[in-house]
Amino acid sequence: MAVAIDLARASSTDAITPTKARAKSVARKVSREEREAETLPELGGPLAPWWKLVPRRYGHVLHAMCSYMGMFPPSLPRYFIEQYTQPGDLVVDPFSGRGTTALEANLLNRESVGVDLNPLAALLTGAKVDPPAKDDALARLRELQKGYAKKKVREAPPPEIAMLFEGRKTLPQLAFLREQLDPSSSREDRFLLAAITGILHGNHPRNPWDSRCLSVSMPNTFSMSPGYLRKYIREKKLKKYPFDAFEKIAARIEHLYAQGVAPSRGRGVHDDALSLDRHVAKGSAKLIVTSPPYLNVVRYGKFNWIRLWMLRESVQRVDESLSDRTRTNLEVERTDRQLGLSDRLGFRKYTAFLRDAVGKMSEALADDGVCVMTIGDVENNEYDKRLGLDAWAAIEKDVPLKLQTVIADRLVTENKVSRIWGENKGRATRVDRVLVLTKSDRMPTANFADPKEIVRRMATEAPGAMRDLPDEG
Ligand SMILES: C[S@@+](CC[C@H](N)C(=O)[O-])C[C@H]1O[C@@H](n2cnc3c(N)ncnc32)[C@H](O)[C@@H]1O
Repeated sequence: MAVAIDLARASSTDAITPTKARAKSVARKVSREEREAETLPELGGPLAPWWKLVPRRYGHVLHAMCSYMGMFPPSLPRYFIEQYTQPGDLVVDPFSGRGTTALEANLLNRESVGVDLNPLAALLTGAKVDPPAKDDALARLRELQKGYAKKKVREAPPPEIAMLFEGRKTLPQLAFLREQLDPSSSREDRFLLAAITGILHGNHPRNPWDSRCLSVSMPNTFSMSPGYLRKYIREKKLKKYPFDAFEKIAARIEHLYAQGVAPSRGRGVHDDALSLDRHVAKGSAKLIVTSPPYLNVVRYGKFNWIRLWMLRESVQRVDESLSDRTRTNLEVERTDRQLGLSDRLGFRKYTAFLRDAVGKMSEALADDGVCVMTIGDVENNEYDKRLGLDAWAAIEKDVPLKLQTVIADRLVTENKVSRIWGENKGRATRVDRVLVLTKSDRMPTANFADPKEIVRRMATEAPGAMRDLPDEG
């Protein structure tokens, strides 16, 4: 039974005790065999990757509003929310990305705050956790459509954008919407803009008129570079179709509301994780589920330049603001390559950031709260580093949180966005280390003694059949 085998593999590396984590934290080349040989607890207790048993399709339709690099599956935060919080509790993610944790919390009737320094991430998080009523979103769209013919666009789109969209209908409509929509002015505008980012570009189906996206046929998950795209469009003789942006946005809104809205609301904040205390009161978060930036593979600005044009943001500004933190990872990479080991200076900078961020998380956390932090291993032909474990070993004496366990979450790399980026192949995360941290010495009691109950619930909500549970196959 394929699933059971997968799980057996997963459980062989699922959790390691803090002492083992320290012992294993020496940065060195670790063979795949060594990884397999780590002996770890059974997939029996609550601190194991139960979310892996849920079909990948699990998740409210709103999660998929717009693709986002480095996202984790909704089943991961859902598992911890179910286990360690009650309705009404506050769930926080200081590196919220597309808002996975925050939305999942609201769907389970918990409050949420998601903070991210990337404006695209903050937009998506805000739109998902505080959406307008569907009719209000559609009414605002109709109002814009009515005003369209009357208003002139002030700023002509640059040629890199013009090459992607049909020039007589789609492009002027988009340029108009870009100028009219102000995400800080209303929920409606924020939601419409977020919805547009998800359909701005994407591959065409067999019948291009059925496309949900507005561009020439190109990947949806990320923006290829303008130079590459120019060549791609020319060589593949890609046709620009005069799609009606208003129609496609309306269809998208219908789709995004098809499964209803969450019973609770949250806040999406555009800020640095190091300013978490400005947005979350001390001791108020029952749970934090987050995944900090960990590897200089993702350039959130560069790989989203088309979406950032729509947001009137500068690619450079985004990458520079984020790379203050991530550039240090490059230093780790470069010196790792030279020495075969981590460079203490580069690594220290990375861990200094993480230490400060964990400090802020600790302040936000309730005394009986749980903090779940996912950090991917860095692995390629040149070096191999368990960044999550090494970083924790470097900061643990300086932070007030205690490591309860580390769960290894093996990823199917084919499913990772980074797999698509030809030049970055092999830099994808293979194993995410899920660090489970608490303020007090002990883990609070989990809500479900039998975690399969949570898996069952998620599985029945996912379209398609439930996967076999390990002892039921
Ligand atoms: C691995 S992604 C998180 C993805 C998220 N878990 C999801 O499911 O979409 C890391 C995020 O950290 C954000 N980031 C990087 N530096 C940051 C900082 N200093 N403060 C807040 N967010 C930051 C990036 O913009 C990115 O969205």
